[in-house]
Formats: sequence, structure tokens, C-alpha cells
Amino acid sequence: MGHLSKVTQAKRLAEVTECCNEVEVVFSKSGITTQWNPSFGSILDLAEAQGLNPDFSCRSGICHTCVCDLKEGEVDYSPEPLETPSPGMVLICCSKPKTDIVVEI
Ligand code: FES
Repeated sequence: MGHLSKVTQAKRLAEVTECCNEVEVVFSKSGITTQWNPSFGSILDLAEAQGLNPDFSCRSGICHTCVCDLKEGEVDYSPEPLETPSPGMVLICCSKPKTDIVVEI
């Protein structure tokens, strides 16, 4: 029995690490590489969970205080910001990574 449960556990671990939804987020200025987790509301939330303190004000896509360079990858906005930032920039308070991303934070 003990043997069986070990096998099951190993298999579960493999499933978790191989899961298709793994998205890597790199905060390039801080040298932090982390994994996106859908339980975060935004890239800003994830940055704060990593101990970073990016600038923000409205946290809802209005003020553009949180705008950062998006060096690689694509994001999804939710909610849609009032004005989308220029190409190569991202509003981290209202976006989630769509692909692996590199953000200048
Ligand atoms: S904090 Fe205002 S747009 Fe992100």
C-alpha cells in the first residue's frame, strides 16, 4: 500500500510540473524569475507577492502610474484599461500574462 501511494504522489507531481498552463514571469530589473499563478489578480499582485513595490495608484487601468516596460511576451487585460499603453509597455495593475513575459520591474 505504501508503495502504491508513493507512485501516485510522484505522478501527481509530474502532472503539476508538466502542466500546459505554466507561464514564467521574469522581473528583469530585480532579477526575479517566478511562475504565474492564476490566483493572482494581476502582474502587480504577483510582483508584490515577490516582495517588490512597483508604483501604482488606481489599480484599475485608469491612471497609468503602474506602466512598465514589457520586454518580452504578451499580456491580457482584465479589466480593459481606459487607454491601452504604447506598444512595449504594460499596465501591470490590470493585466495577466498570456505567454511567458519579461517585465522591467
Ligand atoms: S495603477 Fe492606475 S493604471 Fe495601473
